[in-house]
Amino acid sequence: MEITVVRALYFSGTGTTEKVVCTLAKALGRYLGASVERFDFTRPEAREAEQRFGPGELAVIGTPVYAGRVPNVLLKYLTGKLRGSGALAIPVVLFGNRNFDDGLIELRNILEQDGLRAVAGAAFVGEHSFSRTLAAGRPDKQDLARAEDFARAAAEKIAALSALPETAVAVRGEEPLRPYYTPRDRQGKAVNILKVKPLTDLDKCSGCGLCAALCPMGSIDPVDVSQVKGICIKCCACVKKCPTGAKFYTDPGYLYHQHELEEGFARRAAVETFL
Ligand SMILES: Cc1cc2nc3c(=O)[nH]c(=O)nc-3n(C[C@H](O)[C@H](O)[C@H](O)COP(=O)(O)O)c2cc1C
Ligand code: SF4
Ligand code: SF4
Repeated sequence: MEITVVRALYFSGTGTTEKVVCTLAKALGRYLGASVERFDFTRPEAREAEQRFGPGELAVIGTPVYAGRVPNVLLKYLTGKLRGSGALAIPVVLFGNRNFDDGLIELRNILEQDGLRAVAGAAFVGEHSFSRTLAAGRPDKQDLARAEDFARAAAEKIAALSALPETAVAVRGEEPLRPYYTPRDRQGKAVNILKVKPLTDLDKCSGCGLCAALCPMGSIDPVDVSQVKGICIKCCACVKKCPTGAKFYTDPGYLYHQHELEEGFARRAAVETFL
């Protein structure tokens, strides 16, 4: 099947999803002899436009895994603004070294409902949003080499197709989808961090406004960046990208969960690819 355009689309608070999706799209473009386009839907205004895909296009669509699933704040966009018309897609999820649970199968199913045909899928590992030690520096060289291999194999599969595959690619995950993953304390009680928001050390803050410009929810007041007026999804874009390190969390439940993740999931989680 001839592909003329590979389209990379991603949501990425701290940049790991972006890195993997763009690496994959670039390699796919090279192997398929196609041009590559990028579309970042991290900012709220980017999620207003519809994206239509047609024959000859391959969409590489990536999101992080939040609570073992596709971030629920993205469902409205992913189910309402993407129109497939039978184009091919590769769903990609990035998870922070714990598990991707049902994130990939959920993304695959959403893209299928949008009219795209999922021809391959992948779950890569990225440094956990909440941590600087959990999967630190990933996706690293080894992950990007794996992305290159996966892109080559997916391109070979696509080039050999004479028509759209009859079924979506099989990926790891359960159906019906399991509930969102809930962190628990040692007594098994749920740790609820839904309402937690980052604080700002105004002695460190230079007032550059970057955090307000980056926030995927548009929740940080650009006039007073210490005010998070809307919802916070804990993506940590503001925390990790603030040039002066002025954003931080003090919520005990959040810090407990961060610590539990760092202790309990310190091993190197595997990348999984599906063709
Ligand atoms: C609210 C929230 C929930 C998360 N849940 C999970 C999870 O269930 N499993 C996991 O392995 N990583 C989890 N992560 C970590 C992210 O999936 C991971 O850091 C990802 O690489 C971030 O992508 P980005 O850099 O594109 O923002 C979570 C992160 C956030 C912010
Ligand atoms: S990015 Fe950091 S330094 Fe810049 S306004 Fe936000 S908190 Fe202040
Ligand atoms: S305020 Fe919350 S949603 Fe906005 S960038 Fe910071 S962590 Fe992400």
